[in-house]
Amino acid sequence: MSENTKQQVREFYDQIGWSQVSDGIYQNARYEDLRPVSREYIHRCHLRVKEHIAPSGDLLLDAGSGPVQYPEYVAYSENYKHRVCADISMTALREARHRLGDHGLYVVMDVANLPFKSDAFDAVVSLHTIHHLALSEHRAAYIDLIRVLKPGRTAAIVNGWHQPILMLLAEPLIRIARIFKGRGLKRKKAWSGVEDASGTFVMKMTPRWLKQELGGVLDYEIHPWRSLSTRFLRWFVRPELGGRQFLRFFYWLEERFPRFFGENGQYPLIVFHKQVS
Ligand SMILES: C[S@@+](CC[C@H](N)C(=O)[O-])C[C@H]1O[C@@H](n2cnc3c(N)ncnc32)[C@H](O)[C@@H]1O
Repeated sequence: MSENTKQQVREFYDQIGWSQVSDGIYQNARYEDLRPVSREYIHRCHLRVKEHIAPSGDLLLDAGSGPVQYPEYVAYSENYKHRVCADISMTALREARHRLGDHGLYVVMDVANLPFKSDAFDAVVSLHTIHHLALSEHRAAYIDLIRVLKPGRTAAIVNGWHQPILMLLAEPLIRIARIFKGRGLKRKKAWSGVEDASGTFVMKMTPRWLKQELGGVLDYEIHPWRSLSTRFLRWFVRPELGGRQFLRFFYWLEERFPRFFGENGQYPLIVFHKQVS
């Protein structure tokens, strides 16, 4: 990936993604389902990260923190002395500082080149950030995030899968629904590092890729963060059709069968354990 592409990602977030469209709501939230019917499901999914990291400590690293935009995200570090918000975008960090004040420490950096010493953090979280790197940089980025974690601790990392089975199964239904609504068919995305809906560079991975690259190198488990994409939620989850109840049931299924939904849903929560040597 050229430095030029990274620069474009940074400019995108500085100028567009983290600009506020209304009070406390960023342009980036256009790609989230903020409707009341989905709120409880999304809230509970956000809180899953907290279940997999140490409940308290000195330093929590949030790699690609953005502005720490949701209250649940803020809660990850509520029992930590400091949260190190690290991001390539100055706008993100300025916004994060408004929210966290002195609880935060703010570092402009590239997640592919962490400027931290080894074994420094009691917890590492990184949500929706590694996918902004070229696939050739992902492996090293994961390894480096675990390098800076203290032995015996865990890191919780969330990114979207490329074409997860559950969402692929929903695609024909979405197409039919689009036709009924008189909306054209959407262009299919290739797995080659293309712009996502937001217009930024995004490159997602598959469970098989993860196993090939990190199996035997890092100790990890795949859990569901959120199996349903925003696109699925917007098309099929309707308040008048029992949407809230459906999501409660779906959340229960994710908890009951974490491995299946972690590997086949839209967003996995990958939990890395760093062994004490
Ligand atoms: C989709 S946003 C996610 C923000 C936050 N983690 C969340 O889930 O709301 C991606 C964030 O990653 C940052 N980012 C993109 N490429 C990066 C890189 N190479 N190094 C560090 N941060 C990066 C962006 O500036 C942006 O704040």
